[in-house]
Amino acid sequence: SKLEMFVDDLPIMPKVQGFSVRDGALVPGNLTIGMFQKLWKFHRDLPATRVFAYGLSKESATVPGPTIEARRGVHTHITWENHLPSRHILPWDPTIPTAKPSSGGVPTVVHLHGGVHPPFSDGNSNSWFTSGFHSTGPTWSSPTSSYPNVQPPGNLWYHDHAMGLTRVNLLTGLIGAYILRDPSLESSLPLPSSPFDLNLIVFDRSFRTDGSIYMNSTGNNPSIHPEWQPEYFGDAIIVNGKAWPRLHVQRRRYRFRILNASNARFFRFSFSNALPFFHIGSDSTYLPKPVKTTGFLLAPSEIADVIVDFSDSPTDSAILLNHAKYPFPSGDPVDEINSKVMKFVIERQRSPDQSRIPRHLIRFPKPSPQSAVKTRYITMYEYTTPSDEPTHLYLNGKAYEDPATETPKSGTSEIWHVINLTDDNHPLHIHLAHLSVLEQREILELEKFKDCMTKLNDAIKCHVDNHAVGKKDKVAKHERGWKNVFKAQPGFVTTMLVRFKLLGPGNTTYPFDATAEPGYVYHCHVSFFFPFFK
Ligand code: C2O
Repeated sequence: SKLEMFVDDLPIMPKVQGFSVRDGALVPGNLTIGMFQKLWKFHRDLPATRVFAYGLSKESATVPGPTIEARRGVHTHITWENHLPSRHILPWDPTIPTAKPSSGGVPTVVHLHGGVHPPFSDGNSNSWFTSGFHSTGPTWSSPTSSYPNVQPPGNLWYHDHAMGLTRVNLLTGLIGAYILRDPSLESSLPLPSSPFDLNLIVFDRSFRTDGSIYMNSTGNNPSIHPEWQPEYFGDAIIVNGKAWPRLHVQRRRYRFRILNASNARFFRFSFSNALPFFHIGSDSTYLPKPVKTTGFLLAPSEIADVIVDFSDSPTDSAILLNHAKYPFPSGDPVDEINSKVMKFVIERQRSPDQSRIPRHLIRFPKPSPQSAVKTRYITMYEYTTPSDEPTHLYLNGKAYEDPATETPKSGTSEIWHVINLTDDNHPLHIHLAHLSVLEQREILELEKFKDCMTKLNDAIKCHVDNHAVGKKDKVAKHERGWKNVFKAQPGFVTTMLVRFKLLGPGNTTYPFDATAEPGYVYHCHVSFFFPFFK
């Protein structure tokens, strides 16, 4: 039976302060956030679903978890506690590299996505731990992670990152928003503020009629991987933990910080009544100026920070739509149910509104390719070995377990040419850095180049520069700022500047040793981990 759309109100996740106030001054915050198994109602007519949820307590735990609000320049220390039962809710597959606790339990570790923080706080996939820290991974060192919040204000998120289990741990609900604020830079911006400043965390899920999360547990190649699938697509669209919710809004401006927290689904958002979006930021931080669009593409793990002005609405309701094929861009068109996201019900009467869309936002240093100290070529392709099947994605032919190859120095910038030889768009995420896409060039004679890469595995010897001479795709204006994830288009070379130093005024290097163990990773946010750098 079909679930009726737009019958549940959009939940607003609880807020947690990442700092404290003592004698009028801001001091570091010390939080303890747990992971709990509980029941969660995703829809009025769907029985409650067993989930894993972050929260200060089991009672207050939510899917997504609480929104952490941190202050720039004030540390947030979080002790992440695992209170999960001995068995996972979803099937997982031990035939891929996976955390395997000796004493059972569900391995978890938390990564602050987009954060610039010391390596031991990065949620390294091998720093996993089970309930009560009974088992811990090889690089686990401390129950407490420290986030110095030294980067520009903007939008981050936290999610599970355990080796081999990240996809199933996220599917069960282990995600949450993290907002970094800097009043000295932001208070002069006349943007909509609370309660008109809202997080929208969007993902897809499928459910059985008993309410349980459905995940296809037949492996893509059952003789090798009995239960592992490289991608997950669900047919219900969930926002802030409810399927196709509705939100009553005033006829005025709102700020929406929209995160795509799906495993593999891209969203191409637009409004049914053509209301525009004014982009003020993306993942990481602000754009220099607002950019107006009537629709935009958001890959898994990307964030769009937008202003929507409902006082311009010609109608009294607007449906947020999705048109992205899945897998993107080579898959099926959306169908009726996953082409709708949520509904805004707009008040008739205009409301007073002090907010504006400013002409300028926050200026950060422009990407300067001349400042790069190193150029790297990174090729994504599906790599086959005699004993393996061709759906494993590797970078430069290397697996996660291989020794680190990319070892940038803290305080420097580099040029990365990312060569995508797969059929799908891959949202590549780089930890600890900010990146800016400079150019996207189509690869001509793709098959010839692929053949060469299969033999030589060396982009320079295969003359990538002679191949990357096809159509140039402009970087969308709202994606030209500093980000931490970008969409690597299939059949293209994406060139970007990666900055391993702080953005913005003051000290430009990290206030910690970025080369320390256990290092950092860069990876596609869809399916599998790639080699790490440190
Ligand atoms: Cu959003 Cu390495 O993760």
